[in-house]
Amino acid sequence: MHNEFPGQGEERMTISPQQLPTEHVTLKRLHSFGILKVIEDGFKQHQGAFRLICEGESELVILGKAAHVQYWLDHYDSFVKEIHKLPSSSAVGRIILGDSLTFAKDGEEWKNGRKMTAPLVSPKLERTHAAMAKAADWITERFLTAASGTEGIDDIWPICVEWAARNVLDPFIGSAISVEEGVRFVTLNHEIFFRMIQMATADNQEALRNDPELLAYQAKIRELTERALVTAEPDTMVAALAQTLDIENQPQNMVSLVNMLMGNLFGSIDNPATNLCWCLIHLARNPEVIERIQEEAEKLESVAWSIQRCPVTMAVVKESLRLTPVSPIIERTTSETVEIDGCRIDKGTNVIFSPWLIHRNHEYWENPAEFNIDRFLQLKRLDPTTYLPFGQGKRNCVGMTLSLNQLAFTLLKLCSECRFTLDPLMQMLNLRPKFDTNLHPRGVVAFQVAPHGSHPSVSSVAPQSQHSEQSTNMTP
Ligand code: HEM
Repeated sequence: MHNEFPGQGEERMTISPQQLPTEHVTLKRLHSFGILKVIEDGFKQHQGAFRLICEGESELVILGKAAHVQYWLDHYDSFVKEIHKLPSSSAVGRIILGDSLTFAKDGEEWKNGRKMTAPLVSPKLERTHAAMAKAADWITERFLTAASGTEGIDDIWPICVEWAARNVLDPFIGSAISVEEGVRFVTLNHEIFFRMIQMATADNQEALRNDPELLAYQAKIRELTERALVTAEPDTMVAALAQTLDIENQPQNMVSLVNMLMGNLFGSIDNPATNLCWCLIHLARNPEVIERIQEEAEKLESVAWSIQRCPVTMAVVKESLRLTPVSPIIERTTSETVEIDGCRIDKGTNVIFSPWLIHRNHEYWENPAEFNIDRFLQLKRLDPTTYLPFGQGKRNCVGMTLSLNQLAFTLLKLCSECRFTLDPLMQMLNLRPKFDTNLHPRGVVAFQVAPHGSHPSVSSVAPQSQHSEQSTNMTP
């Protein structure tokens, strides 16, 4: 299946780089349709790697096949995060959050950051586990309150963000910051990131660095970190990082501490919040799956909980991440010249691997537009080249296990206590995925909720052809 690269086991031919098919896109089209629609259309036409040139300016090579991911895994160091050259989003991230793990330079800087972070994001840590349980209780209460009124939930997104914040604020920072303040910071981070990505050009590095809003924001996150350090509550991420970075004797490391802490905080709020939001949307459209989770929760009552013990709930999380991957594209830059699909891709080229294209390709997934959790219950082994919601290889998501635990735990609790459907008055167009820094629903998503044992007042509303995502235009 993966032998698509001439030169692997055969005599290499010299092929000129021009042979990679090229698509041109205007800025107007890119802005009105979005990058996902543009690469989807390009991929349909070329069915392999292609070059995308945006109005004579930036140039990307789209690598949307499983074979391309295999090549990436086999030549991991040939693809690096471009943290210096704008307009790559990693270079923008580097300006905002410096040497945080996500934007760390490949090599020693990344290795040290990963070694420091990995043990601090384990779901087994007591403080982390306690926060996870409290966040699950909180969102369940929030749903039950909505169920007891007549209004339902008019916008699920802020609830998902607050849930994600409640999962990590205490274990990462301690009580130095309130949930409201944490949520405000995350929202601000998201806005700054998105604004800067839009502003970034190949040569405005200095202007971005000195942007007054960015400077004010950086001062705020430093102040917040200093505040958390005053108490440095035991078993918090901030206390552990301060110790490893020896802040007491090496105050110059404070910059890295702020970057590491805030990088982890932001990575662990927007991503899980987005994933939860999509899980709830898919469940709301597939009420029989809510029942299946509830049955699983009942069986778990007498045994110690773990994600291995709840295959149905995990299949919901995985299927949601397949159909609506929070990170639909993964950016890299070639660190040397490579040869893919028989074409040369020069060193320094920006490339995109795309969970979005791969997860929705008929070649790898049967009826890919359907939300069908059974595909994951039947799969014996996940193929890393056809399923990559958490990235791939050594720079994959360090918080993957934490997120899977948080999501499964919460869905079990929520589905055993309530039923929910989409509000029939909501514009179904709002559900269409839209990519900004992550894959979010395009508009406000409202729910009707009822306690377990009864049904939301709108349960007669069509669950929109059970599994088919086409019926509400889930294409971008
Ligand atoms: C559903 C939730 C999540 C999703 C879908 C997700 C997705 C991803 C993806 C796709 C990558 C790889 C990016 C790339 O290769 O360019 C990544 C990396 C990363 N994620 Fe997550 N993430 C999630 C939750 C979390 C959480 C809870 C944390 C907590 C700390 C976290 C922290 C990070 C960090 C620090 C990296 C960079 C890792 C490295 O470069 O070594 N993420 N994430």
